[in-house]
Amino acid sequence: MKDGHLLTLAMETSCDETAAAVLRDGRTALSNVVSSQIDVHRAFGGVVPEIASRCHLERINAVADRALADAGIGFGDVDLIGVTQGPGLVGALLIGLATAKAYALALGKPIVGVHHIKAHICAAYIEHASLAPPFLALVVSGGHTDLVRVSGYNAYTVLGRTRDDAAGEAFDKAARALGLPYPGGPAIDDAAQNGDARAVAFKRALLEKDSLDFSFSGVKTGVLNYLNTERQAGRAVKVADVAASFRESVVEVLVAKTLRAAEMHGETQVVMAGGVAANSRLRAAMDEACRAKGLRLYRPSPALCTDNAAMVGTAAYFKYAEEGADDLDLDAFPNLPL
Ligand code: KG4
Ligand code: ZN
Repeated sequence: MKDGHLLTLAMETSCDETAAAVLRDGRTALSNVVSSQIDVHRAFGGVVPEIASRCHLERINAVADRALADAGIGFGDVDLIGVTQGPGLVGALLIGLATAKAYALALGKPIVGVHHIKAHICAAYIEHASLAPPFLALVVSGGHTDLVRVSGYNAYTVLGRTRDDAAGEAFDKAARALGLPYPGGPAIDDAAQNGDARAVAFKRALLEKDSLDFSFSGVKTGVLNYLNTERQAGRAVKVADVAASFRESVVEVLVAKTLRAAEMHGETQVVMAGGVAANSRLRAAMDEACRAKGLRLYRPSPALCTDNAAMVGTAAYFKYAEEGADDLDLDAFPNLPL
């Protein structure tokens, strides 16, 4: 506690970012440190779980120290420990949990385990002081693509989700097929800047008329088939055009389904969350579509869309306020449902 404010030290280790942050009263990030392992995993073309766990173990204490130093506080000022409990890679999650438990025990402070996807949604509270439920959230990450109705700070209902690949996974797989580096999302976003989005007509899977589910395996296969056909015919592939066309097909579906969900459920506020919400075209297209429909859109900065610990601190704060602390035997759940 400092000057009457509740201070949360939060940690995130569910995948390939080792992150820690300090939050003041849940919505103000005093620090937000992310140590990315992207360079370590790039050689393998994707995240290697065992290597991720080892990197987290080597880095987490220094990252937490840095988060406290950046916030200008010490361990003695911390009131609450927040940590991602799942979903994610089990070994990676366990490093964050073990560290968080050790701090909680040593400091005699409460601990709260947080759902990674809820945390992604909570990222929007940090930069938007006026945001309050109810709202509709589009969560687009490497492992998830969900439309979620948020009716309270701890009340989440999934309205639709992907039936196969997550949007981020589709970006990563399409990028790999195009010979672009891991992670594929930012690589495709960059390559697409100079491309023609109408060059290749990839399918838009809108599914049944009232469905709020997604399917991205078709467009991913579409990219693979297109590349095979062109290469077999001896034609040179314009990577920028394919990247722009692929990106556009995914963005169109994400925007269309979000508007459909808002209309079906009478939502007036829309939140974008998760790594793919950093996509420049998705951000622009969603903004345009929400304006046209009179919907209020909340887009966290790209650094708060991709994995970070500030979002975990915010989610921990709201969970603690309504549900209290967890026990120290709190476990990791790689498939934790929303
Ligand atoms: O939320 P996140 O950081 O981690 C998970 O919880 O999965 O999301 C990672 C995903 C990756 O698939 C990555 O390629 C994608 O987000 N991503 C992007 C962009 N930045 C990250 N996808 C499209 N455009 C981007 N600019
Ligand atoms: Zn994430």
